[in-house]
Amino acid sequence: MINVKLIEHPLVQHKISLLRDVNTGAKEFRELASETAMLMCYEATRDLPLKTVEVETPIGSAKSKVISGRKIAFVPILRAGLGMLDGALALVPAAKVGHIGLYRDAETKNVVDYYCKLPFDVAEREVIVLDIMLATGGSACRAIDLVKKAGVKMIKYMCIIAVPEGISAINETHPDVPVYCAAIDEKLNSEAFIVPGLGDAGDRMFGTK
Ligand code: PRP
Repeated sequence: MINVKLIEHPLVQHKISLLRDVNTGAKEFRELASETAMLMCYEATRDLPLKTVEVETPIGSAKSKVISGRKIAFVPILRAGLGMLDGALALVPAAKVGHIGLYRDAETKNVVDYYCKLPFDVAEREVIVLDIMLATGGSACRAIDLVKKAGVKMIKYMCIIAVPEGISAINETHPDVPVYCAAIDEKLNSEAFIVPGLGDAGDRMFGTK
């Protein structure tokens, strides 16, 4: 069974159209990536467990619900995943943050990891890995490997645009990790770029290249 959750909320879909647009500049791109991540995070945290507490209102006592137990860490994949971090933290301000640095070698297409720093108590947390694009899935699978090696038991992967190849790669390598995405595009081109996609998210966000 395919472990993917497609977030089709109209506000998310509208923002993705603006992210895709070649005329969207770096400042607007960063704002849109963050806003999209915030809305997606709302869906990705839908299963957080609740417990009932007693709250004193100005009128009386109410049985009400608060999030119970499970703590979250966000782990953006550098660089593009950084664009989703502010939005995710806006929704879960108490979350801790880890960073994983990966890039795809332009010629070999192999994933090279150059940085991994995770919260000291990450093994006790649910981790949501963040990246804007899921192409071959090489970066996502490596990032999930690194998070699992740190002892994390509950992991979700959240990206804005995916292709079927990338989803299959995660599903096959890490069947326990659900993939949250907001668009599933047609295919990869010969350079492993998503078609139609939105271009190179890192470059568009930071003005490189
Ligand atoms: C891009 C993108 C993802 C990765 C997806 O990053 O931001 O991290 O490629 O590709 P994959 O699924 O085939 O691994 P890139 O390697 O360009 O690095 P950058 O974010 O530093 O620009």
